[in-house]
Amino acid sequence: MRKFLMLMAVALVLPTLAGLAQAGERLKIGLALPTQQEERWVRDMHAMQAEADKYNVDLRIAIARNDQAQQNNQIDQLLSQGIHVLILAPHDGEGAATSVNKAHEDGIKVISYDRLIMGTDVDVYMSFDNVRVGELMGEWITKRVPKGDYILMSGAPTDNNAKLFKQGHMNFIQPLIDKGDIKVILDQPVIDWQPANAQRIVENALTLANNKVDAILAPNDGTASGAIAALRAQGLAGKIPVTGMDAELSAAQRIVQGTQSITVLKDTRKLGEEAIRLAIRIAKGEDISDAINGAVDNGTMEVSSVLLEAQVVDKDNIDAVLIESGYLKRSDVYGN
Ligand code: BGC
Repeated sequence: MRKFLMLMAVALVLPTLAGLAQAGERLKIGLALPTQQEERWVRDMHAMQAEADKYNVDLRIAIARNDQAQQNNQIDQLLSQGIHVLILAPHDGEGAATSVNKAHEDGIKVISYDRLIMGTDVDVYMSFDNVRVGELMGEWITKRVPKGDYILMSGAPTDNNAKLFKQGHMNFIQPLIDKGDIKVILDQPVIDWQPANAQRIVENALTLANNKVDAILAPNDGTASGAIAALRAQGLAGKIPVTGMDAELSAAQRIVQGTQSITVLKDTRKLGEEAIRLAIRIAKGEDISDAINGAVDNGTMEVSSVLLEAQVVDKDNIDAVLIESGYLKRSDVYGN
């Protein structure tokens, strides 16, 4: 009977400790980020570190430099350090699948963070509603320029988000192309989301069009900075609407100066904090279905998803959305 009661006690305790090697052990979360090229990834990391500290979690961080082989090696190392859960924002959504499979072989669950990991079983995806994010940009630019000659860019082909954003852009732009109101001068992806690549694309397009351009769809703030550099060289900065995304400080500065038209705020502080809290729940073996509010197809399955909302920021609402919310400092944005 005593033995039976002891077994019962163990059975009751076990589920809450699933994923934790030993009772009382400090929870170890692995965080694999693709880059720090954009300011947002730095913010994600800081938010996650602060949240991990709050819960006394040992957060092990690895940053790849836009290189999947490097990221896969880093994940091997994290797994060998005995992490209990992995938060993975892949450089290359397809190329990260092998790391997910390895983690699963070790019994470690994986949160696909911001970018979706493709072609394998993913435990949960945490991001924004990225088609909607793209629509916010497409809607804004087509309202501002319903007719005219467009330069279109999309994000890195290795990043599934780039496809989702593009789908959202085209939900608004394609009908106007079909009507003959919008003409596309050039439509190209920006390898690795690099501003210099975006600058070259816009330089080429300006040459092709003899500078007769009415709107530029840049898929994030980094690529917008490249586009604006190309415009500036032709004396066109501030004369042609340019989109962006990420609410970077430099983008906010360009918005108040009038060279960039919009950005999109995806509050990565919130995403980062929620990812840590979800990782803790997963490590404890808790049912997280209450957190799920969507499903996104990764080619293998409909991945259960936690999707946050995003918001367009322009000159008119920048104070309310970015400054009063504490996301950016007024003195940094306005330089006084
Ligand atoms: C993210 C963007 C970011 C881009 C480049 C995308 O997956 O969603 O916020 O600007 O990658 O890092």
